[in-house]
Amino acid sequence: MSNTFTRRAALLGATAMPIAAEAQSRPRRIVISSANQNRGGVHCCARAMELLKSGADTLDAVIAGVNLVELDPTDHSVGYGGLPNEDGVVELDASCMHGPSRRGGAVGALRNIKTPSRVAKAVMEQTSHMFLAGEGALRFAKAVGFPEEDLLTEEARMAWVAWKKSLKDPSGHNNWTPGLDAPPEKRGAADQKKAQVLRELREMFPHADEEALARAWNYAEHPTHGTINCIALNEKGEMSAVTTTSGMAWKIPGRVGDSPIIGGGLWLDQDVGGAGSTGLGEENLRVCGAHTCIENMRHGMTPKEAALDTLRRVVRNFNADMEKLAQVDLHFYVLRKDGEYCGASLWDRPVPGAPMARLAVAADPGESREEDSVWLFERK
Ligand code: GLY
Repeated sequence: MSNTFTRRAALLGATAMPIAAEAQSRPRRIVISSANQNRGGVHCCARAMELLKSGADTLDAVIAGVNLVELDPTDHSVGYGGLPNEDGVVELDASCMHGPSRRGGAVGALRNIKTPSRVAKAVMEQTSHMFLAGEGALRFAKAVGFPEEDLLTEEARMAWVAWKKSLKDPSGHNNWTPGLDAPPEKRGAADQKKAQVLRELREMFPHADEEALARAWNYAEHPTHGTINCIALNEKGEMSAVTTTSGMAWKIPGRVGDSPIIGGGLWLDQDVGGAGSTGLGEENLRVCGAHTCIENMRHGMTPKEAALDTLRRVVRNFNADMEKLAQVDLHFYVLRKDGEYCGASLWDRPVPGAPMARLAVAADPGESREEDSVWLFERK
């Protein structure tokens, strides 16, 4: 269980506690985020906290935090190094909300810019619009000074090639594998297909080691839709939040997920709190998740109750069909205006065998760290 409020309430045998009484013992500054690969969330929260302590604006703090992950080529779900769309092109989505000014900005399907969160902020600060997409978003980013760069790393390209090669029509054909008159190979069995793709990848990427090849195959088979969401509260009660992602791997070009949808992948009203999501964007959009979390809190739920209620709406959308729900990976991160927080997931882990669902937290005073999320269901 990830929050002190709930733990204390349980110890006292209480189901609720006045916010004012609790707030006195709360950290004055707090940042939460999704956990992400390579302790990306911990680094993000630490950086954002460092800036909060130096008196930076809460939006500058969370954006500097997620920039670390956007620029990390080894996180394949966010920014530079993100897994590409079905054409092999990386397209990024991001949104931000600034509590004190009650404003927001977003970009969708943005190509060639490493830090879409900063472009989202530029949309908020430098235009009368809220959301720019595709070619227009890129033209705007270049116009305000962002350099255009290739976002596809060699590791991401290898995973994309593995995915292309793994696709077969019902007759076992694929334009990305040897043609009809090539020497015959036994077809059908999954391990044979994997062996064939790995053999071809070894030829195409002679410098890649076996571990990198295995990772590429794993990404082809289990595409990510990871993301980073980060929310901050400072000692003045000001809050801001950001969500940034490369979205669903192998998506149709132009697909925009929940991350840049203000209300879906991100919502913040510093009179109540902030919320954001990672995971399968389409299912989050069907419950307008981040907004739902905040409205649930406005009507009296704790962060944990608010997030779990939102996840139950996803369950309802599938009529609790557990076979279908097993394919949904969805997480919410919720920070209330008094510092109470929660990470909540549909499942205890994204897929069977994966690490447990977690969030990152930096609460002043204290080190940035990971904590377990709460969840609705456990994978067998
Ligand atoms: N939550 C990220 C996406 O679905 O694009």
